[in-house]
Amino acid sequence: MNAGILGLGRYLPEKIVTNADLEKVMDTSDEWIRTRTGIEQRRIANDDIDTSDMAYEAATAALKNADVSAEEIDLILVATVTPDRPFPSMACVIQERLGAKKAAAMDVSAACAGFMYAMITAQQFIQTGVYKNVLIVGVEKLSKITNWDDRNTAVLFGDGAGAAVVGPVSEGRGILSFELGADGSGGKHLLQDGEYITMNGREVFKFAVRQMGESSLNVLDKAGLKKEDVDLLVPHQANIRIMEASRERLGLPVEKMAKTVHKYGNTSAASIPIALVEEMEAGKIKEDDLIVMVGFGGGLTWGAIALRWGK
Ligand SMILES: CC(C)(COP(=O)(O)OP(=O)(O)OC[C@H]1O[C@@H](n2cnc3c(N)ncnc32)[C@H](O)[C@@H]1OP(=O)(O)O)[C@@H](O)C(=O)NCCC(=O)NCCS
Repeated sequence: MNAGILGLGRYLPEKIVTNADLEKVMDTSDEWIRTRTGIEQRRIANDDIDTSDMAYEAATAALKNADVSAEEIDLILVATVTPDRPFPSMACVIQERLGAKKAAAMDVSAACAGFMYAMITAQQFIQTGVYKNVLIVGVEKLSKITNWDDRNTAVLFGDGAGAAVVGPVSEGRGILSFELGADGSGGKHLLQDGEYITMNGREVFKFAVRQMGESSLNVLDKAGLKKEDVDLLVPHQANIRIMEASRERLGLPVEKMAKTVHKYGNTSAASIPIALVEEMEAGKIKEDDLIVMVGFGGGLTWGAIALRWGK
């Protein structure tokens, strides 16, 4: 049984924080942030909206878009590194709120590559026929672990959630190939140390440029496809320069890469599903389009998927 995307949803907090707003509270500039990262603004959740609230909103939208009811969900996977609290899991919290009574539920911790890990975990259960509908959510309230006195990291991140219902699709469609990987020896370059995120930006940058390109090419190779076959690249939205490097590695024109980093910054596990929903809503995805999704993150972790769109 092939596993594919049956529906998508997203949630973004209303509050917009622009680069100009950050200029007022730290030693940075709109020019520095835009030229180094491509970020112009980000969404920041208010105190009364926590991770599970954003996950719930995105999940509700995805179920509606998929036309699947909460009772039909067999498994919920929430990819996050910023849960409301260590347990119960975010998956359990939204299971109850959605009324997904028969669903098993757990969280996935793979930082910014979390949505790729969740999607492939979902695929395994669907492929084997064990489960039919799996709800996956990538959600992050990074603002609560951001050190607003550290300009190296504070300008990069944003809050948000993206969700997908993954289920059986017809032959030739859905997930065609994937690659997941990890290198714990690089964990020191990007981590939560105490209360806050700390990062060696240059090391992460080098790793990301290399890995995003390689993983994208590897999934094409595994699926027996060529760079020219790709209709849409959906890279993790961390930094426009990293995204551009992956696009160039695949030899794709600008219009074939999903881009939300300028509006939302880096929303970690939420960035790929949010970018994918926006492409879908803009009518830019057609039946049978070949989509390559690729992400990297703290761990270090990475993941890529080649997917043929449609049910
Ligand atoms: C963080 C990042 C944007 C920095 O870009 P960069 O091109 O390496 O930056 P540069 O080396 O040109 O500049 C660094 C300088 O800018 C300064 N700087 C850092 N943040 C700044 C900011 N927000 N505003 C102004 N100056 C800043 C640094 O202090 C440093 O100054 P110094 O050279 O005097 O020490 C880049 O390394 C990056 O995107 N890395 C990957 C990060 C990432 O994606 N993390 C999430 C992974 S999921």
